[in-house]
Amino acid sequence: MIEVRLAGAGDLPEMHRIWWATGSSPGKHNPWFAHVLRTGRMVVAVEGEQVVGFAGHRMVWQTNVISDCFVDPACQGVGIGTAMLTFLLPPGEEVMTLASDDPKAHSLYRRWGMRPVVDCPYLQATGRGDGMTHENDTYPIPSADLPHLQGDLGCQFVRAQDSLAAITEHSIESSLLTPGDDPIAVFQAFLGRAGTVELQMGESHPAFGSFECMETFRDTLMATPDAQIPDPRRITYNGDLLAVGY
Ligand SMILES: CC(C)(COP(=O)(O)OP(=O)(O)OC[C@H]1O[C@@H](n2cnc3c(N)ncnc32)[C@H](O)[C@@H]1OP(=O)(O)O)[C@@H](O)C(=O)NCCC(=O)NCCS
Repeated sequence: MIEVRLAGAGDLPEMHRIWWATGSSPGKHNPWFAHVLRTGRMVVAVEGEQVVGFAGHRMVWQTNVISDCFVDPACQGVGIGTAMLTFLLPPGEEVMTLASDDPKAHSLYRRWGMRPVVDCPYLQATGRGDGMTHENDTYPIPSADLPHLQGDLGCQFVRAQDSLAAITEHSIESSLLTPGDDPIAVFQAFLGRAGTVELQMGESHPAFGSFECMETFRDTLMATPDAQIPDPRRITYNGDLLAVGY
């Protein structure tokens, strides 16, 4: 018998075990899960005492976002993902997520009316070394998310032309391209600052394909028809949808 309940900090080790078992960054701590516990709702599916799945939900501005959904590989395909989303999602509301390429994920999200909007590959990218960026004090996302970028990930906020990015040594965690800026010059600047990094970029982003990169895997942004989604021509996000509406 599967039960779904709200998760707490004590569930983080089991959530990581399942996340790693599905092939995601084995052994790597993911501070995002604690961030969802702080800023949204995380549920676990439990069979007896055993955690067999977890899923996260956050409101980003007015939009329901499924932020995570993972089921122990030994227990997939028997309705656990469906049970967790049934717990989390109010019926009839707009919702979006970044879906993996698992066909079960696409079936699951379609059941809630989400359809593919744009493919968002993860890229390992290298710039040409033009790091013409400036420090920026702020980054325009909900204030509840700032401690995640700054405290958990140690991001710096930088500006190139009028565009902004939240950057670590290893990744462009998110960026906001300002209309009118030269997208290719902006991304060469961000990448030049950070060296070889990972970022996730919608295929419709104007800088997509403009730098040397290797695709590691890809998500698909899926949303219900009237959901307010982040503009994939302006925004990059490393697995997290932080800036809906920009
Ligand atoms: C994606 C995932 C969360 C779905 O959870 P789940 O418990 O396995 O899924 P469910 O059993 O609730 O089934 C979900 C849908 O997939 C369908 N499905 C089940 N087995 C399937 C299979 N082998 N191939 C294709 N679809 C399948 C189900 O019929 C259901 O669709 P329906 O509602 O139209 O009937 C889970 O499989 C998983 O953790 N996958 C690996 C990690 C991952 O990619 N997570 C998604 C991150 S966005």
